[in-house]
Amino acid sequence: MKFQAVKGMRDFYPEDMAVLNWILSGWRRVSLRHGFQEFDSPILEYLDLYTLKSGEGIVSELFHLTDRGGRDLAIRPEVTPTLARMVAARANALPRPIKWFCMPRLCRAEKPQRGRGREFFQWNIDIIGVDDPVADAECIFVAADYLREAGLTARDVVIPISDRRLHKGILRGFGLGDDRHEKALALLDKAENVDPGRMHQMWDEAFGAAVPFAPLGRLLAAESIDEFVAIASQVGLTPDSFEGPVADLRQLWSYLDQFGIADYCRFDLHVVRGLAYYTGIVFEIHDRRGQLRAIAGGGRYDNLLQLVGGPAIAAVGFGMGDIVLAELLKDLGRLQGLSTGLDVYVVDAEDGLFADVLKIVAALRRAGVVAEFSYKRQSLGKQIKSASQRGARFVLIVGQKHRQQRVVDIKDMQSGQQREVPADDLLARPQEFLVAAGV
Ligand code: HAM
Repeated sequence: MKFQAVKGMRDFYPEDMAVLNWILSGWRRVSLRHGFQEFDSPILEYLDLYTLKSGEGIVSELFHLTDRGGRDLAIRPEVTPTLARMVAARANALPRPIKWFCMPRLCRAEKPQRGRGREFFQWNIDIIGVDDPVADAECIFVAADYLREAGLTARDVVIPISDRRLHKGILRGFGLGDDRHEKALALLDKAENVDPGRMHQMWDEAFGAAVPFAPLGRLLAAESIDEFVAIASQVGLTPDSFEGPVADLRQLWSYLDQFGIADYCRFDLHVVRGLAYYTGIVFEIHDRRGQLRAIAGGGRYDNLLQLVGGPAIAAVGFGMGDIVLAELLKDLGRLQGLSTGLDVYVVDAEDGLFADVLKIVAALRRAGVVAEFSYKRQSLGKQIKSASQRGARFVLIVGQKHRQQRVVDIKDMQSGQQREVPADDLLARPQEFLVAAGV
């Protein structure tokens, strides 16, 4: 019987692991330099945590099970409800603001497609305890800073930003009762992926009599805050339906400017977000060419802590997945030349020198250098070929000269240059020699 990985689940062969580790180490490095502390949480949670708090989209994609005690559990599809649960449990003891990050492995029973699997890693950045838009701006800054470091400029990616309070203000302004807002927002969330004609039809079927699509469509198409305000008054909305969020968005934009990342950002009311707990500013990250699903999504969720039994504390954050990020980096050729981490491959040029090779490898490894050797006694050419296949940065050639004068040759695999070095000096201060050779 032949076995395959479960549908949508991921095998990580070493080359995949190299990409994943590169992504995870970047996420961690950037989080730490922006002052976030790492946390983690269990893989399993009570099913209710999601059915009550996350909204329809995620609930339909849950992997759930009943344990031997009859408890209904789910594999975590996201970490935000867990974060709210953990903070709520220690709300009075934790110094605020709380700036936490994590990089959990999550599962959602989504239809596997480009950029979406059933298992993925998700970087989460969250700030809890700050209601000023400076926290929203800081989260967006962290994301943009990571993207820049990963080689993605404002020409490659865009961060569309909107505010759910604007959507609700519009719906309310047009007379749609609050009890129908969640359904309307869920439909608007689909607008990005459905062609405008079809969207218009779907809207008319659901809300046509209550809210005409034409003015709504015009508002959604506004490309700046000023344009939105102008259209809003043309379609007869009174300022009280949008003043508050517009003021917050203007404030947000001035912070984004001060952080130096306004070029990554765009006002775009098409961003609604599928998760039910968002209460205010929401944002996503997309590739500029629009070929991939969202790279990240987040926003403000000021009620979630209370919903999980804690005090009312403001919160904002985002999640970024590894799969779509890696797809984009691959498409743009930014994943080439990832180091395999192998510094030196030690080879013997002639028979009878294997003992010298092993001693040198041992000394290098003890000194913290990543060193490898061939298990088979092969020609020098074959060993150098293996070194190249393994991605070694240097080859150390041990020949008769080593026995006679304790001298070895070091070959830089990038430049092809080769030079002689005294073996004892190299082993005493390997980093210095490897740096001198161009590391
Ligand atoms: P989300 O929009 O559901 O938000 O997911 C955020 C990101 O996770 C997506 O943009 C995508 O990169 C990645 N992702 C989601 N589902 C999949 C999948 N099936 N396969 C691969 N990648 C996926 C949340 O999860 C919120 N909890 C984020 C958040 C944190 N909001 C506030 N704090």
